[in-house]
Amino acid sequence: MPNRRHFIQRSATLLALAAAAPWLPRFAFAADPTQLLQRAIPSSGEKLPVIGLGTSRTFDVRLDDASLKPLDEVLRTFINGGARLIDTAPSYGASEAVTGELLKRTNTQGKAFLATKISATGRERGMAQFEASLKALQTDKLDLVQVHNLQDTRTQLALLRELKAQGKVRYIGITHYIESAHDDLLAVLAQEPVDFVQLNYSVGERNAEKRLLPYCADHGIATLINRPFQRAQLLSRVKGRALPDWAMETDATSWAQLLLKFILANQAVTAVIPATSNPRYMADNLQAGQGRLPDAALRAKIVQAFT
Ligand SMILES: NC(=O)c1ccc[n+]([C@@H]2O[C@H](COP(=O)([O-])OP(=O)(O)OC[C@H]3O[C@@H](n4cnc5c(N)ncnc54)[C@H](OP(=O)(O)O)[C@@H]3O)[C@@H](O)[C@H]2O)c1
Repeated sequence: MPNRRHFIQRSATLLALAAAAPWLPRFAFAADPTQLLQRAIPSSGEKLPVIGLGTSRTFDVRLDDASLKPLDEVLRTFINGGARLIDTAPSYGASEAVTGELLKRTNTQGKAFLATKISATGRERGMAQFEASLKALQTDKLDLVQVHNLQDTRTQLALLRELKAQGKVRYIGITHYIESAHDDLLAVLAQEPVDFVQLNYSVGERNAEKRLLPYCADHGIATLINRPFQRAQLLSRVKGRALPDWAMETDATSWAQLLLKFILANQAVTAVIPATSNPRYMADNLQAGQGRLPDAALRAKIVQAFT
């Protein structure tokens, strides 16, 4: 394909430039935005780039120039690479405020798809938390608000539906991060219409393949995948090991890309949201949203490599 050849040549040139000119801003070497795979949100048909950005811990920093600098570069790399979806939460310390500040500083407010959460009990507290999120994120509406870890789900989903009807929220969802909660997520989905489910799924945590992801695919529910690296635990299993030759068949050039491509090969996945505070890791993760995805045989090899 001429496009792929062009992209590979361009990437090689950019990498050579990066090595030769380390003083240039690293986000200049971001992935080609036109090549980033997108998938539709089933409830609307709106397309989302498959690589998003988590902010738990990584964006929980002080709001001063020195602390914001690397994250500023992460965000520029992300947006310049054609990505949009940023996932945050009121319970992630300063992450919402840092995200809002960085979007303002980089003048990219209109470019992001902002997802946050509600983790409160009772309607009033939920509403207060939502208002605080708007303030911290420096916006008057949010793309996606999710009930965090199924806390007071019914009350908060009712509130989110009202906010959606008022145009303050575009999509609503629910989240969890442990496999033992997948049945609870399914039980809510059977009773409550939502646009998105956020769940844990990775080479090391494959329970979602059995029922949750197929259910979402069958019922037109978008899925966001958290903990793709099980924090950095999965990557530590292959530390120092060379990438196997077969990785080339997926166009992956790093272990992190293999882990993300493994997830994206599941067609029930809408987007994956790895977290990072490192601009180079951000560029690396964006590359996973380009090129070929592994077939069943290659997926088995990826699992084997991390076992
Ligand atoms: N209940 C929930 O709703 C829930 C629960 C868990 C997570 N989440 C969401 O999902 C997001 C992702 O999950 P997570 O933050 O727990 O873990 P994760 O994305 O699996 O792992 C993050 C770690 O991976 C490292 N990393 C990222 N890209 C890398 C690369 N290319 N090469 C090497 N290392 C790399 C990061 O290192 P550096 O720090 O050095 O960059 C960071 O330590 C969260 O940030 C949050 O937005 C939601």
